[in-house]
Amino acid sequence: MINSRIIGTGSYLPEKVITNQDWEKRLDTSDEWITTRTGIKERKWTTAEQATSDLCVEAGKRALAAAKLNPDDIDVLITATITPDHAFPSTSCIIQHRMNMRTIPAFDIAAACTGFLYGLEIARNLIGSGRYKYIMVFGAECLSKITDVQDRSSAVLFGDGAGCAILGPSEDPQRGILSFNWHSDGSLGKLLIQPGGGSRNPASHETVDKRMHTIQMLGNETYKHAVSKMGQAAVDALNAAGLTGKDVDVFIPHQANLRIMQSTAKRAKVALEKVYITVDKYGNMSAATVPIAMDDAVKDGTLKPGSILLLDAFGGGLTWAAAVIRW
Ligand code: UT7
Repeated sequence: MINSRIIGTGSYLPEKVITNQDWEKRLDTSDEWITTRTGIKERKWTTAEQATSDLCVEAGKRALAAAKLNPDDIDVLITATITPDHAFPSTSCIIQHRMNMRTIPAFDIAAACTGFLYGLEIARNLIGSGRYKYIMVFGAECLSKITDVQDRSSAVLFGDGAGCAILGPSEDPQRGILSFNWHSDGSLGKLLIQPGGGSRNPASHETVDKRMHTIQMLGNETYKHAVSKMGQAAVDALNAAGLTGKDVDVFIPHQANLRIMQSTAKRAKVALEKVYITVDKYGNMSAATVPIAMDDAVKDGTLKPGSILLLDAFGGGLTWAAAVIRW
């Protein structure tokens, strides 16, 4: 199978900053609680006019520039999001049109916070087949649009943003995605759910009154699964690549909670200083967290050619996945 690697990244974050002090004014919470329990200090939120595809188009342009490619070069477009512009058409089709791409296959995937990693694995296999050369994978969310602003246990966690990675064939077999694992356990789906708006509970006055169109999370239970599943996925991905935690140069876990990230690093025996942190300034952006952190790490020089990068994510579904990449 032809191996693939990430040849360009891009990201876009909305301008509006929501600080912990802003939440202190709205809810019975404190900067001290949010900081010590989650590591979050601020997050970026879209305006009423901005939707997920708007963020993606900007992130996509930046990724194309970094990869030195044109929209015409892209063979497949995949967007991981739980906050699409609409239930349909897909956000990927909207991006395909707005970026003037050919009539390439374009589709969304719904694997919550693990979505970007799921997208990477799909892209890797499509490139591996030899039928497609360049694939654009977005992880993008406007979680502010489905946040219950009256629920202090979840409202303070979420932010908006879009990240994009372009994958292409790797000429050097030593470079690129070295190992990958991905999982699901639907029996735990109710831990993290947006119950309203689908075919089970179609939108109605009742679903709106009961706040069923927002994120509902059993934080404590979710936390325990996040630590154990992300830890195991990281260990398995390292083993499959013939590496250990000591070989990791940069660890980018899903950024839901600083304590989860640190516990996962300990389980995978990765030194804490290798953990790349963005949760303090962006909060939890579900599928967007990993690609945005990756782009930040490229821009600030943390990720260099040859770096061993460990990616790890966990979220609604439940879903979880990990990858080892030689950058
Ligand atoms: O993105 C993918 C998956 N998501 C995750 O992985 C998130 C996993 N969960 C978490 O990160 C954490 O569970 C939270 C950050 C959501 C919550 O932290 P926690 O340490 O698990 O707190 P808790 O839910 O056990 O609540 C502890 C206390 C409660 O008060 P009592 O019952 O002890 O009096 C809560 O009511 O903290 C209270 N609390 C708050 N207090 C101030 C909950 N939210 C807040 C708040 N401000 N915002």
